[in-house]
Amino acid sequence: MVKPKVLVTWPYLFPEADELIRRDTEVTRHKEERPITRQELIKILADKEGLLCMLFDRIDREVMDAAPHLKVISNLGVGLDNIDVNAATSRGIVVTHTPDILTEATADLGWALLMATARLIPQAHNFTKGGRFVGLRYHLFLGKDLVGKTLGIYGMGRIGTALAKRAKGFNMNIIYHNRHPNPQGEKVTDAKYAPFEELLRESDFLVITAPLTPETQGRFGLEEFRQMKRNAILVNIGRGPIVKEKDLAQALKEGLIWGAGLDVYEGEPEIEKGLLELERVVLLPHIGSATMETRSAMALMAVQDLIRVLKGGQPLHSPNWKRVKEQKPEKGPPP
Ligand code: GLV
Repeated sequence: MVKPKVLVTWPYLFPEADELIRRDTEVTRHKEERPITRQELIKILADKEGLLCMLFDRIDREVMDAAPHLKVISNLGVGLDNIDVNAATSRGIVVTHTPDILTEATADLGWALLMATARLIPQAHNFTKGGRFVGLRYHLFLGKDLVGKTLGIYGMGRIGTALAKRAKGFNMNIIYHNRHPNPQGEKVTDAKYAPFEELLRESDFLVITAPLTPETQGRFGLEEFRQMKRNAILVNIGRGPIVKEKDLAQALKEGLIWGAGLDVYEGEPEIEKGLLELERVVLLPHIGSATMETRSAMALMAVQDLIRVLKGGQPLHSPNWKRVKEQKPEKGPPP
């Protein structure tokens, strides 16, 4: 049996996923531990039916047009802002991604980042490791209490809801802003919907878990930081471009807000220099879902859905499978 040709844009996945993709496809892997270049991608994809890509690969019209046999793009992550899903749909290409499975790990990381920022944990750790601990001092590393404070969540989807559940243990008052109210999320967390301005005004801790869309892009800038509490902490585990990084650095410098914890960046992997110089900022390298268990389960899920589509079946997690089916029930191979 002829196996479908696929490209994986990283040299390896995780053992189970690697074994499955080797078994069911004729797999080509990008050979180096760096993002594949656009030129390489376009060249290698020319005869492929499947693509398993990373969040840092930009898959747009030009890439798709260079791959006339492509049937499926499987994204190793939940966010889909790196893929032009509409362009894929109009070309009969199914897109898949990995929601749900990373929800808890990402909410854990959001919570860890919030606490690390509020209690200056990395700063204190560096201080101690650097041999500067010479005894308890009552004014060292004074952070912020969480208990009884207001947690604001921007983006009350799966991850926002999981984060809010964790806040219940801290007796926090939880408010959220979302495109639409989320009654189910409210039920399991006691969170209350708030208009955007109220979220800014009332939150002691404001955590961004929203995806990147035209509506969320650049939503947090100087004007918004001016409306926040001077003691507030901003945490972003959604997507970098939701926050205007230069404005954030200025807001922190001017004391418009107290601190910030970021896992994602506007021009990733570049980071606004102004942020690097500030004391009350905690920066992580986009590790929201990075646990052994979660990342290996994500890789397996991505491979399984890729193979499902290549075998003519229905993927478990696709934003456009139905639309592709409705619009092009039979996509014959190109001549
Ligand atoms: C991580 O950022 C993801 O979208 O999976």
